[in-house]
Amino acid sequence: MQLQGITALVTGANRGLGYHLVRALLAAGASKIYAAARNPEQLNDTVALDPERVLPVRLDLTDKAQIAALAQKAEDIQLLVNNAGVLDFGGALETTDEVIDRNMSVNFYGTFDMSRAFAPVIEKNGGGSVVNVLTFLSFVSAPIFSAYNASKAASWSMAMSLRPYLAPKKVSIINAFPTTIDTEMVSGLEKVKDTPADVADDIIKDIINGNEDIFPLGAKNTFQAWRQDQKAVEEQFAKLM
Ligand SMILES: NC(=O)c1ccc[n+]([C@@H]2O[C@H](COP(=O)([O-])OP(=O)(O)OC[C@H]3O[C@@H](n4cnc5c(N)ncnc54)[C@H](OP(=O)(O)O)[C@@H]3O)[C@@H](O)[C@H]2O)c1
Repeated sequence: MQLQGITALVTGANRGLGYHLVRALLAAGASKIYAAARNPEQLNDTVALDPERVLPVRLDLTDKAQIAALAQKAEDIQLLVNNAGVLDFGGALETTDEVIDRNMSVNFYGTFDMSRAFAPVIEKNGGGSVVNVLTFLSFVSAPIFSAYNASKAASWSMAMSLRPYLAPKKVSIINAFPTTIDTEMVSGLEKVKDTPADVADDIIKDIINGNEDIFPLGAKNTFQAWRQDQKAVEEQFAKLM
């Protein structure tokens, strides 16, 4: 996919991977990027990347009215990057309904609501893509993140249901499945982590190369291992308790 001159929207653009996805999209030649965050005052560093091309917008993924209003306002979008997400620690037996709701409302409903709202906008603009930042845990669970695993698996499943419906409308669904990234989300986890800058650069490179299913950096080895022996990877992840 050609990113030169496109208009994009990135959710959760105030920090972590979202900030670097905006940076990498600018480097790839995007002409306009709506940088979305719950609190637009936290977008100063993101806007400072290129104040001419980066527009701050308010967006809470759990607010359906805000999503609808943004789809009216940002009517020139060709690329939607569903990056925002939440993660709670907790095994399946101790996880509360509240925690499950929180993970589902952002990672599943919020992401799907964005795709539903913006797919017609992208189609109207001649086509483009929806990029979902999922996780390797969408298809191999790490038991300490039970609610997160479930929400990201549901998000992946819905994305795969959308893909064939949107293909004839020239809207492609691109899914990225990173392993661990060195951001606030997993600051409590001691594990080898890729940097958010490198992961963002790898995702954008793969989008340009036309890959629909992206395994950035460390996730490439994990995916190879999973293809060779799914049970072994399941057992390895199961140790994360
Ligand atoms: N870090 C990892 O190891 C890892 C691995 C695989 C996949 N991922 C995925 O990568 C994506 C980015 O995560 P990250 O690592 O950059 O984590 P992060 O630093 O914690 O950033 C999460 C972002 O999501 C935003 N967000 C949370 N709830 C929101 C809501 N209700 N509405 C709008 N925005 C909301 C946050 O905004 P606030 O600042 O307002 O909270 C923040 O901008 C997520 O989808 C995550 O699941 C992360």
